[in-house]
Amino acid sequence: MKAHLVSRMWQTIRRYSRTFGYRQVPVWYGSSVAVAQQFETISKRLKFLKLFPNPYPFYDWIMGFHERWSNRAALRGPVLERTTNVVEAGVGTGYFLAQLVKNAKNATTISAVDLSPQMISAARNYLTRKNLLSSSLFFVRSDCRHLPYPDGTFDLYVSSYLFDLLNDEEIESTVMEMERVLAPDGHAILITMTTELEEVQEPVRFACRAANELYCLGYHRGRWNRIWRFLFAGYAPHCRPIALGRYLKLAPSLSIEYTKLSHVSLFPVRIYYVRKSHA
Ligand SMILES: C[S@@+](CC[C@H](N)C(=O)[O-])C[C@H]1O[C@@H](n2cnc3c(N)ncnc32)[C@H](O)[C@@H]1O
Repeated sequence: MKAHLVSRMWQTIRRYSRTFGYRQVPVWYGSSVAVAQQFETISKRLKFLKLFPNPYPFYDWIMGFHERWSNRAALRGPVLERTTNVVEAGVGTGYFLAQLVKNAKNATTISAVDLSPQMISAARNYLTRKNLLSSSLFFVRSDCRHLPYPDGTFDLYVSSYLFDLLNDEEIESTVMEMERVLAPDGHAILITMTTELEEVQEPVRFACRAANELYCLGYHRGRWNRIWRFLFAGYAPHCRPIALGRYLKLAPSLSIEYTKLSHVSLFPVRIYYVRKSHA
């Protein structure tokens, strides 16, 4: 009996140490629709900040240092120069979109999609301030799982920090929808917080795993919520590290051409360059 107990404990420890730091926690808020609703809350709570052009200062300032670096790193390369018809899913406050508009010089249409009307209006304001609005830029309120476009519409699909906000099923359906709206030979550039740390050397890899483990412990069932809510004026849903590569493999015509890691903190971010085949 005692031996049995010890053996079970040993197996549990071994299992935990194998998954330590590689966990992809379920989102605690059910679905991404709740994320969009949270932005309404912020916007109501921060009415006084309407005096300022951007009503999401916490979101932009606190997350900005983490996200912007990898966003910039992602939008380099020839795919962007060749592209003519682009969609960004989950534009948020528009920083990535502004970079996209500047870099995709030959694009004839850029569709900026978000589920939250507040975020669309924040992105539009941001681009207006940056003098980047044009007749080829369209803001569209839509769910990334059901985009209002025919099959094969886009030669480039970009998205930063959207997939890591979605629950398991939503990630799968968003990948399938991306596959549908991409034209054969089209590309996708996707940025997510990642649990895929293969090429990270020790001891940095261990530090990243420990940071992820800690983050996941707090994230699970929203235990960090009070802290997040205070810092982000009511906005609690947050990206968590995921293994997007696993989901991309579910789409038969998509292949990952290459990926690169962007290390801004102990939470590495992976940038995926994906191509849709002709088949
Ligand atoms: C973390 S923000 C990313 C913002 C931006 N891409 C960036 O890098 O700064 C995620 C955005 O995805 C949007 N979103 C969440 N669920 C969505 C869904 N199902 N369909 C479309 N957009 C969604 C949110 O409203 C939010 O604006």
